[in-house]
Amino acid sequence: MSRQLYSRSHLDTTPPKYNGPLHPLDKAVFQKSIPVLAARVPASQIALILHSEVTRKYLIDWYFWACLIKVAQLSQESLELLESKGNGFTEYNLVLDYDYWTASELLQAILPEELREGAPVGFAATGHIAHVNLNDDYLSYKKTIGQLFLDKNKTIRTVVNKLDNIDTQFRFFQMEVIAGEPDFIVEHHESDCRFTFDFSRVYWNSRLHTEHDRIVQSVHPGEVLVDVFAGVGPFAIPAGKKGCAVMANDLNPASYMYLCQNIKDNE
Ligand SMILES: C[S@@+](CC[C@H](N)C(=O)[O-])C[C@H]1O[C@@H](n2cnc3c(N)ncnc32)[C@H](O)[C@@H]1O
Repeated sequence: MSRQLYSRSHLDTTPPKYNGPLHPLDKAVFQKSIPVLAARVPASQIALILHSEVTRKYLIDWYFWACLIKVAQLSQESLELLESKGNGFTEYNLVLDYDYWTASELLQAILPEELREGAPVGFAATGHIAHVNLNDDYLSYKKTIGQLFLDKNKTIRTVVNKLDNIDTQFRFFQMEVIAGEPDFIVEHHESDCRFTFDFSRVYWNSRLHTEHDRIVQSVHPGEVLVDVFAGVGPFAIPAGKKGCAVMANDLNPASYMYLCQNIKDNE
């Protein structure tokens, strides 16, 4: 049994420019085949080759197989090591496809040039929901962006785009589903606590995680915490779990309902 090593440094591994339909994407268009020169390495030597200081810099990834390109570009030292431990060199057709590239790399291949810079590169995650805040330039690509984030993130089942209007009193925002299931009931873990809530009806901001932690760290067991705008409990529940006496309330009936559920779930 033999395996192969390859290097990315001299390969054009960018995805091909995409001109297919935006939704659903024609994933087959992303297939790219790159002929490379490969080194055959017996299975018994593969660990040595993969970990060797001499050859490691020529490797791209921990694949079942791998291959080296252009022997001439290898250092003399690495060439000697491969020749002494390997079974010679061979041609290999490296096939890259939709599964290989990240969402950002694929999006760069899909967008017209003028939209590439400034394209969305990530999202905020709340439970299984990824949320983005697309500006107008990207709205015609929203389903494509949603599909990419969904396909490339195993824990995400729903992708939403935040709309501008935020409820003035209860502070939750309007959202539209751009990919996946229209399921807004999330289970989110933070500060060693489990929070369940309807993301479309209550206020929640995952980016406040460090602020939640900061406040909770500043209170001590036996102290009293009064949280009058408690939402679904990101301050109140960890503080209660820590041994504080907590009084918490929220005017939004949905927040209050989930606050009560979260208290029970974290007892
Ligand atoms: C910005 S959110 C903060 C929620 C929570 N502290 C958090 O960090 O997730 C403000 C919260 O105050 C609640 N709220 C607004 N007016 C209120 C009032 N008069 N009394 C109690 N809660 C109120 C809203 O429903 C909302 O959940």
